[in-house]
Amino acid sequence: MEPADPLDELLTCRLEPGKKAVEPCTIVIFGASGDLTARKLIPACYHLCREKQLPTPYRIIGFARRPKTDDAWRGELRAALEQFSRTKPIDDGVWAEFATNVFYCQGDISDPAAYKRLADRLASFSNDRLRRNLLFYLATSPSQFGQVVEHLHQSGLLRKEESVEPDQRLVVEKPFGHDLASAHKLNAELTRFAHEKQIFRIDHYLGKETVQNILLFRFSNSIFEQLWNRQSVDHVQITVSEKLGVGTRGGYYEEAGALRDMVQNHLLQVLSLVAMEPPVTLEAEAIRDEKVKLLKSIRLMHPGQVDANIVRGQYTAGVAMRLLIDNWRWSNIPFYLRTGKNLPQSASEVRVQFRRTPHVLFAAQCGPKLEANAITLRLQPNEGISLRFNGKVPGASMEIRPVRMHFSYDSEFGAYTPEAYERLLLEAIAGDATLFIRRDEVETAWSIVDPIREAWSGRPLSGKEFYPAGTWGPVAADELLAQRGHAWRNPQPVT
Ligand code: BG6
Repeated sequence: MEPADPLDELLTCRLEPGKKAVEPCTIVIFGASGDLTARKLIPACYHLCREKQLPTPYRIIGFARRPKTDDAWRGELRAALEQFSRTKPIDDGVWAEFATNVFYCQGDISDPAAYKRLADRLASFSNDRLRRNLLFYLATSPSQFGQVVEHLHQSGLLRKEESVEPDQRLVVEKPFGHDLASAHKLNAELTRFAHEKQIFRIDHYLGKETVQNILLFRFSNSIFEQLWNRQSVDHVQITVSEKLGVGTRGGYYEEAGALRDMVQNHLLQVLSLVAMEPPVTLEAEAIRDEKVKLLKSIRLMHPGQVDANIVRGQYTAGVAMRLLIDNWRWSNIPFYLRTGKNLPQSASEVRVQFRRTPHVLFAAQCGPKLEANAITLRLQPNEGISLRFNGKVPGASMEIRPVRMHFSYDSEFGAYTPEAYERLLLEAIAGDATLFIRRDEVETAWSIVDPIREAWSGRPLSGKEFYPAGTWGPVAADELLAQRGHAWRNPQPVT
């Protein structure tokens, strides 16, 4: 790795001058014996503790049904950490400190007495902020969100607060509804006892460094943003491919499908960051306003238009689609989105494909062989950005071929691999909502996806929508692009 130019170091600009310092806080995890707690939340908290990013003091209380002591729960968490931690071995010193801040509260989610026990536990903390600054993490089934907030409210632990910096906050996980009506209902349940400002809806894609970098890349550089519009861009491809199949989640997947599991949230979030207008400030609401505006300009489909624009992959494990954005910047530019399991590799990337040169000079001779320029934002793995342009092959003959310029996170910044959950938890503790999904955002995303599901219901897959595991998806997905003279560009290994 080349040492950074000292001037580059000098030019590093630290943002967030107005960012709140994290204050003493208690995190209460409902669904504490579940998978999410063991795989993601506790490893994230442990690493935040290791990096000294948690507030001083802090407490974590796990709330779940089975009776166990604090120590028994700590033992389980240590075992889970051994398995799921991104760094190994576990640092015994850090763990010892971490474990003293972790407690268990036994209780059934529907039992008021359990919330009384939780309130008593909180009241036993000597620091006033630990008793009042509370982050309730609902790692439960969404069907239980309503009763948790109601009981929290009745036990005096959750107060509906409209202030910019509410003391009590709720973090909720996806799936956030399974269609617009259910998302609406869920939102209504949550907002009975909590203000929208207190609700932090997670989409873990927003916790990824590379996804956060999309806005910086677009709005801190003048050369790319000049080209980021219908005059220069031919089309955009967003691919989120996974090598693994649905595994043991077959039942859930059968019901949710890739459209609900991936498109409604992760892909539409990435799309909105790639295509949105510049926000007026870097405040959470300004950014979220622009994302919603973009989602609202995606053309909704009538049932009769779905087949011409959307392709299902075998057993709903994949989906490919063409979306059009009806706004000034993107009018008539196709945005192709695809996601699937059982594909040849796991890779997420955004490829902005620019227009071809006029059909004179080199293009006149090479025809379609002369590649158009492209910028690829590699979200994962091999995080980085590549620019593709044409160059002369050295030698006496006149040969042109595409070459690539790469920026790689690893070689520029060294390995830096915090999990998305670490960043998201920290932001929720600090009360910064920028990386969380607002109510109107989640509902607009459902209104894009719902008509597609409706058009599919009861219609069997056509033969062209099946794909063998380990290939890049069904023939119908290739045909979808071919209609406009386009072709999928599969993620390339970076050498
Ligand atoms: C989850 C989906 O939200 O995202 C999973 O439910 C999917 O089906 C996962 O595998 C992908 O996340 P990542 O971070 O591995 O790209």
